[in-house]
Amino acid sequence: MPVRSLSILTGCALALSATAVLAQDFGTEEDQDYAAQLWQLMLDRDLAGDDAVQAFPYPGTDPHGMMLETFYTRATVDDHSGALVIKRNYGPQGVTVDQVIGDREQHLGAVTIMFRRGDGYAPETNDWFWAKYLPDGSLDEAPDGTPLAGRAKGCISCHSTADGGDLLFTTNADLN
Ligand code: HEC
Repeated sequence: MPVRSLSILTGCALALSATAVLAQDFGTEEDQDYAAQLWQLMLDRDLAGDDAVQAFPYPGTDPHGMMLETFYTRATVDDHSGALVIKRNYGPQGVTVDQVIGDREQHLGAVTIMFRRGDGYAPETNDWFWAKYLPDGSLDEAPDGTPLAGRAKGCISCHSTADGGDLLFTTNADLN
């Protein structure tokens, strides 16, 4: 095949894949499956669910909860290991530390996580995979119904303003 028609074909393929990326860059089936694997491993390690390990909650603000717990660990998915940061978000407005400690289940609003997925997953945003779960492990959704899993734009646009260059607000530690 002449080189010129090859490059036309490649050009078409690129244009098609660019459209696909623009159409849905997070919340795809693959993102949802990946988020489900992460939730399962959090359950298996008691990082989520009824027997989840507890820390002392501290006051937070919007868009996360009014009381927060944050955990830093590592996890392995499909043979890749990376940093996993888990934030539990408690509410409602005005909730106290004692109320949260006394009844976590009643006050848990959401579990938001960042997992360093690696392998060139998202080079411009340090390879973080983002997800926001409801307390039962299902994915929360953006206002247009897109499941919040993957390279979630809303999460990234705010977290890009964190200092330290790694999209993390609570720490500038080197989490690989
Ligand atoms: C408007 C800004 C904003 C948006 C949008 C946002 N976050 Fe955050 N996020 C923060 C702030 C501020 C903190 C630090 C809170 C604290 O004091 O613990 C934080 C902390 C976190 C942490 C703990 C790691 C860290 O950065 O210190 C995780 C995990 C997290 N957010 C996940 C998410 C996910 C997932 C989404 C999207 C569904 C999201 N965030 C959307 C502002 C935001």
